[in-house]
Amino acid sequence: MTMTCLKVFTLLLVSRLAYSDAPQIGAFSFPKELDAGMRASVQCAIIRGNPPFKFSWFKDEHKLTDARGVSIRKFDEFTSNLVIVRVEADSNGNYTCQVSNSAGFDQKSAVLLIKALLLMFLIHSSISVDAPKIGPFQFSGELDVGMRAIVVCAAMTGEPPFHFTWFKDGHKLIDTLGVSIKKFDDFSSNLVIAKVEADSNGNYTCKVSNSAGYDQKSAVLSVKGI
Ligand SMILES: *[C@@H]1O[C@H](CO)[C@@H](O)[C@H](O)[C@H]1NC(C)=O
Ligand SMILES: *[C@@H]1O[C@H](CO)[C@@H](O)[C@H](O)[C@H]1NC(C)=O
Repeated sequence: MTMTCLKVFTLLLVSRLAYSDAPQIGAFSFPKELDAGMRASVQCAIIRGNPPFKFSWFKDEHKLTDARGVSIRKFDEFTSNLVIVRVEADSNGNYTCQVSNSAGFDQKSAVLLIKALLLMFLIHSSISVDAPKIGPFQFSGELDVGMRAIVVCAAMTGEPPFHFTWFKDGHKLIDTLGVSIKKFDDFSSNLVIAKVEADSNGNYTCKVSNSAGYDQKSAVLSVKGI
């Protein structure tokens, strides 16, 4: 009777030793302030279970090897380090550490997202474009026949790209003989009438639009003595 008890006990003890616990990995994460060019390192550390362990690292389901720019080192029986020597845009991803022993396996993941891209992402999702507002412009009151008339239509507010259109008495103006319309920079357009004549008189309108809206302003050209 006593012998049987001892045998059962010994069997239980042996089986307890032979069947080790499955591993459990402690949570890890990448630092939030990572910029391009910085070094990123995470530690996959086993907090429960019995060695020997086999470690594997994955990035977005692709197995990582100790290759250019990526270093994988076993620190001790329970710990594996992943170092990305210089993080870049394509370092971004979901990194997984997988650990197994004779009793089972565990895996934990962490997302790497470098700051610049995080910022870009935040800006992209929160940017709002303002509609343009044009500064007032006017023709000189001293225009004689044959003189040059120049006005500048400039968007004082709003974000480019802007689209500029000029009208004379409601009719669209085009860059033709005697009339030159030039985009000066991202924010302004010039209208030049090379030599004003009687039929240059009229009400000139500049219309500016962007993805958020438009504005328009007008000025009257009146040649002196006509
Ligand atoms: C990262 O990968 C793991 C393992 O494939 C997955 O369970 C987890 O949902 C992924 N996380 C993200 C944020 O994609
Ligand atoms: C000039 O044209 C604009 C736009 O069509 C109009 O709002 C404005 O009243 C006109 N000005 C004159 C003096 O006719």
